[in-house]
Amino acid sequence: MLMNRMETLVVNSATRRALQRWYEAPLLVNLGGRTPGGRVVEIGCGSGYGTKLILDKFGAVRVDAVDLDPAMIRRAQRRLARHSGRVRLAVGDATDLRAAFGAEDGDYEAVFDFGIIHHIPDWRAALREVARVLPVGGRFFFEEVTATALARPSFRALFDHPKEDRFTAGEFLAELPHHGLHVADRWVTRIGGDYLFGVARRV
Ligand SMILES: C[S@@+](CC[C@H](N)C(=O)[O-])C[C@H]1O[C@@H](n2cnc3c(N)ncnc32)[C@H](O)[C@@H]1O
Repeated sequence: MLMNRMETLVVNSATRRALQRWYEAPLLVNLGGRTPGGRVVEIGCGSGYGTKLILDKFGAVRVDAVDLDPAMIRRAQRRLARHSGRVRLAVGDATDLRAAFGAEDGDYEAVFDFGIIHHIPDWRAALREVARVLPVGGRFFFEEVTATALARPSFRALFDHPKEDRFTAGEFLAELPHHGLHVADRWVTRIGGDYLFGVARRV
């Protein structure tokens, strides 16, 4: 589901970029390590700032990055123009990476989700696709917004998200093993009941 105008403003703000650079990326590196030399995919890449961090901070050598919103992919193309040899951008759906990039099973060493799966009506299908494109030992880095946060009056007033079947932190973590994604407590950080950061490994 596409973002509304308010969320687009927030996501494209300098504050969001600072949070992603100085808090989220270091936290995820701390939880799951870097991906030096890796070929990885980012789902819901937005304006491509996360993609740049995946190159710079995680050390990936190639990133495929997909977003449903053509306007966000245009922003990402501008931001990442000088990395075009290492980045492939596509308008597409995170639940079908074959359509976006021709991704075969086990094609990527890691999948990155910076706050996007809560936008997907069939979020379990997104997890199924994440697991499909990872080889055994591949890592899934996630930052997610839970049903608890989405139900807050401020969130409901400002942003649009699918209304049905959103997940709590516990429900998201409990779903991972159904797709062959193993997560341990020490690989997860929760911020209240609202935000969830972690890394799962394909088994
Ligand atoms: C909250 S924004 C996060 C953007 C970026 N990852 C960040 O952290 O700044 C969610 C993004 O997911 C995209 N999106 C929503 N549903 C999607 C889907 N099914 N497949 C791919 N991208 C999707 C939206 O267009 C939007 O750019």
